[in-house]
Amino acid sequence: MAAKIISGTEIAAQIREELKKEVAEMKEKHGVVPGLVTILVGQNPASVSYVTGKQKTAHELGFYSIQDNQPADILEADLLGLVDKYNKDPKIHGILVQLPLPKGINEKKVLNAIDPDKDVDCFHPVNVGRLVIGGEEARFKPCTPAGIQELIVRSGVETSGAEVVVVGRSNIVGKPIALIMMQKGKGANSTVTVVHTGSKNMDQHCKSADILIVAAGVPGLVKPEWIKPGACVIDVGVNRVGEKLSEKTGKMVPILKGDVDFDAAKEIAGAITPVPGGVGPMTITMLMKNTVLSAKMSIK
Ligand code: GUN
Repeated sequence: MAAKIISGTEIAAQIREELKKEVAEMKEKHGVVPGLVTILVGQNPASVSYVTGKQKTAHELGFYSIQDNQPADILEADLLGLVDKYNKDPKIHGILVQLPLPKGINEKKVLNAIDPDKDVDCFHPVNVGRLVIGGEEARFKPCTPAGIQELIVRSGVETSGAEVVVVGRSNIVGKPIALIMMQKGKGANSTVTVVHTGSKNMDQHCKSADILIVAAGVPGLVKPEWIKPGACVIDVGVNRVGEKLSEKTGKMVPILKGDVDFDAAKEIAGAITPVPGGVGPMTITMLMKNTVLSAKMSIK
């Protein structure tokens, strides 16, 4: 039987509706409006497109939102000063500095200058540490891994005691999703294995997974025979493998392929995310969720 297709587009829309209500309620009860600033340095086309999407969503949810564009030749000290200004601004609950930053600016230094209580990307070492400790200590979750967990939970897939195999050990996806899924508690409590470029028998590990999360950045890496029948497969890969003419716009658009051979895998898996329309739409939504959480934490 063909797998259930997990639509990130639909689940993200559902979460945004929930957030919209929460934002309206917070405004009415406490007079607090979640505030998000996205800082863009330079005009990298992909980054412009990402921050535009983030601002559009923030606006739709009723946030107070600022798009702060800075020139590519901004001095590091001035960028640090800008971050500090927003750290001190009580109307701002979330600060996002869009990456990558131009050469000559120390990315780590800038990210570490963000107040951990406003670090809605969850890139600050303090928040990564809190995620490791888990429980009450954990506040924000990084957006893509948080989106993956929501996709799994909202699809009705049992996580407690499940064998979760993560392919990839990046700081943005692989490591944090492994941490999240191994925590004690709802939507987690799994037995987690992380495989990577140094692993032996990657296929055998994958085959043991009840939940297989692939974030390797290698198109079509996971073959159908690596998948346990009935498993839940989350494909985080978004690989540009060429271009095609869009019938809608008449312009050339990238052809995107995941890390999993989707057409074959969907005949074996129990549930699977498509690319595009799977994990992708969840990331911005979870950024909004973190900003709402930050605003909530600011209410005394
Ligand atoms: N650039 C690409 N993805 C991201 C992200 O999730 N956060 C930030 N700050 N920059 C990015």
